[in-house]
Amino acid sequence: FGVVVGMKIEQQQVKMCLSNLEGEILHKHRFSYTLKEANRLATVIIEQLDSFIKQNECAAKLVGIGIATPGLVDRESNEVVYSPILKVDHGDLKPIGRHFDVPLMIDNDANVFALAEKWIGQGRDYRNFIGVTVGAGVGAGIVIDNMLFRGDFGGAGELGHITIYQGDRLCYCGQRGCLELYASDAYLVNEAERMVSIGVPTLLASFTPITPECIVKAAQSGDTYAQELLVKQGENLALGIKNMVHLFNPEAVILGGEGLRENEFLLKGIQKELAVHFFVKHPRKLQFQTSQLGEEVWLIGACALVVSHLFKVPIYK
Ligand code: BGC
Ligand code: NA
Ligand code: ZN
Repeated sequence: FGVVVGMKIEQQQVKMCLSNLEGEILHKHRFSYTLKEANRLATVIIEQLDSFIKQNECAAKLVGIGIATPGLVDRESNEVVYSPILKVDHGDLKPIGRHFDVPLMIDNDANVFALAEKWIGQGRDYRNFIGVTVGAGVGAGIVIDNMLFRGDFGGAGELGHITIYQGDRLCYCGQRGCLELYASDAYLVNEAERMVSIGVPTLLASFTPITPECIVKAAQSGDTYAQELLVKQGENLALGIKNMVHLFNPEAVILGGEGLRENEFLLKGIQKELAVHFFVKHPRKLQFQTSQLGEEVWLIGACALVVSHLFKVPIYK
């Protein structure tokens, strides 16, 4: 009866869980970290994880730790090589595995999302699908022939950083016109603030600060500006999705991420844009689904990294 740790590293917070080998979550924990702590994140995680495990009396049963993080992960060295969205260099997380003396598996968060969908989610029956996540960033996990395609630098599916408007806004990654600038939570907030600052008569003016949650709330209470903004976000995101669909011809696209927030406007924008593509005349239809695994999806996927390693189930191309 082994127990697995699944973990997700985000901008300034870490979520973790203990699960069994079937991916059922037994206990959860989250903590925030400061920018100062970010430079010794492995140590901070070890402290937190140690007491989380002890508190739940699981130390003797621990068989592995899986971590989902934004950015590029080198699987051989288990290092986060490049993760500009985290704004810090996390470097080496290996001490975590060494401290608990168990295998440590790390991968890109969107890849981990796709893996969870493949394991126990909507992706179970698809050989070829693309998992897309939207939130603070935009990411993708590409499943080809039942295997995750990582790319040579671990960066296959960096959907947030494909160029959709050449020569336009500057992204923190150094490029211009990245999709993420037109589809992330920050896009929503920036656009909403811009509208308010030029005096657009929108409900959004009554919120300080404006958060993505407020924008969804305003849209749901009938504010057409908020509605249009969410639809536009969906259309922008769908441009990226569509490009991936043409490159990989998947059976399905599975959408998830904290940015979904059950809002029908974003989905409307996506569906509007996805209604036309090169394959629409084909007798088989591209399936578009939203994840049903909730905010635990990355934790489940992080556990899947460990379980597939332990049971020697190949998951990578
Ligand atoms: C990062 C990706 C990540 C995505 C979702 C992007 O900004 O570059 O690696 O998968 O955000 O977190
Ligand atoms: Na990815
Ligand atoms: Zn970028």
